[in-house]
Amino acid sequence: MSNTLYAQRRARVAQQIGPQGIALIPTALERPRNRDNDFLFRFDSYFHYLTGFTEPNAFLVITGDGKSTLLCAPKDAEREIWDGYRLGPQAAPAALTVDAALPIGELDAQLPRLLENREVVWFPFAIHEGLEARVGGWLTKVRARVRFGALCPEQQRDLCGILDEMRLVKDAHEQDLMRRAAAISARAHVRAMRTSARMLRAGQEVREYHLDAELLHEFRAGGSQCAAYGSIVAAGANACVLHYRADVAPVRDGELVLIDAGCELDGYASDVTRTFPANGRFTGPQRALYDLVLASQEAAVAVTKPGARFTDPHEASVKVLAQGMLDLGLLDRSKVGGLQDVIDSRAYFQFYMHRTGHWLGMDVHDCGSYVEPGEVGQVSERKDPVSGETIQNRPSRVLRPGMVLTIEPGIYVRPAAGVPPQFHDIGIRIEDDAIVTEGGCELISRGVPVKADEIEALMAG
Ligand code: GLY
Ligand code: MN
Ligand code: MN
Repeated sequence: MSNTLYAQRRARVAQQIGPQGIALIPTALERPRNRDNDFLFRFDSYFHYLTGFTEPNAFLVITGDGKSTLLCAPKDAEREIWDGYRLGPQAAPAALTVDAALPIGELDAQLPRLLENREVVWFPFAIHEGLEARVGGWLTKVRARVRFGALCPEQQRDLCGILDEMRLVKDAHEQDLMRRAAAISARAHVRAMRTSARMLRAGQEVREYHLDAELLHEFRAGGSQCAAYGSIVAAGANACVLHYRADVAPVRDGELVLIDAGCELDGYASDVTRTFPANGRFTGPQRALYDLVLASQEAAVAVTKPGARFTDPHEASVKVLAQGMLDLGLLDRSKVGGLQDVIDSRAYFQFYMHRTGHWLGMDVHDCGSYVEPGEVGQVSERKDPVSGETIQNRPSRVLRPGMVLTIEPGIYVRPAAGVPPQFHDIGIRIEDDAIVTEGGCELISRGVPVKADEIEALMAG
């Protein structure tokens, strides 16, 4: 991306923190995994959004006059032999269009100087371990200079509010990256489906990790750096465990496989789920539930458009799923009543216990308030019929072009008294990524088929 975009984002922050404000944005810490071995480094999303800089040991300061200062790792010929290239403070201003750059070792010396004579210090609250204490230490140093005429900031404010609103609506560059990430993930799902059917046809043993390997192959072959979250590859009854991870369980002929996996590309996540028959052919009961989940997703997609509320797709999905649960005998009308009763009592929760979507962006569960900002004061309370908890209802966010969300209804049937046995242990979720457009929404993950017939055709080939 042209560096102008990052500069424009920093300018928007500067404008919002006010002329007497200063904003502090660290990147993430490197995390040890075990002896001499770190977890793969992943930059902080806010930091990357404002710099495009991927190195660890870096810290961005934006002041209300529109100037930005980067503190980063200094050039070090010996360390670079071990850890790789560093941009260094000398090259950073030209490469990243920041106004100044300093060695990160000067952070504690420079920050009190930069904080002096500002009124408000902004930083992301409760994100970076130890940052609150460090800010406190820097402010203590500024205060020591008050008797020499310096002014010390009197307010600390959470920068997340400003950045979350900015990140919630994706610009053209972000949308393009997200389309590419979703396309890679779609190819990975296609590859896993084909592999499952091909190996079973050849009489080979298939395990969940075989399919996980296919996903990873396609992610990396497509240029993605990593999976955006731990891939779920769940064979048979494992699909009913919502946070299951790809493991060693056998993928059996006749069972379904649920794969929830998406790659991260240049800092942007995709989040895609498909459920398919391991051998390429749905059984009757599998197909009945699959078609129900797909119909509920179609209902949710139809209402995903500007002006709708974030909760509208969920409500549309629930309506279709609840009706289907009654029609298929998962719920007993004589016990739970009709459609509206099932919705009001949340009786559907036995088989559908999560929401239909979330914001998607740099983080798989991306930032951004789910409440419409102008309506936060309109709060009503109700008792949740399932948990008994008091729920505070505030008007849900109004969708606008450029927002990106997942649409992911599902159905998970654990064996229980009164539940028809032909549906036992079936877990199905269908998840696509949607960009809200002027006229509706664009599903960017449909490079992998979603209709049952199309999945069967793909797996037969
Ligand atoms: N893969 C995480 C989710 O679907 O929310
Ligand atoms: Mn999701
Ligand atoms: Mn998912």
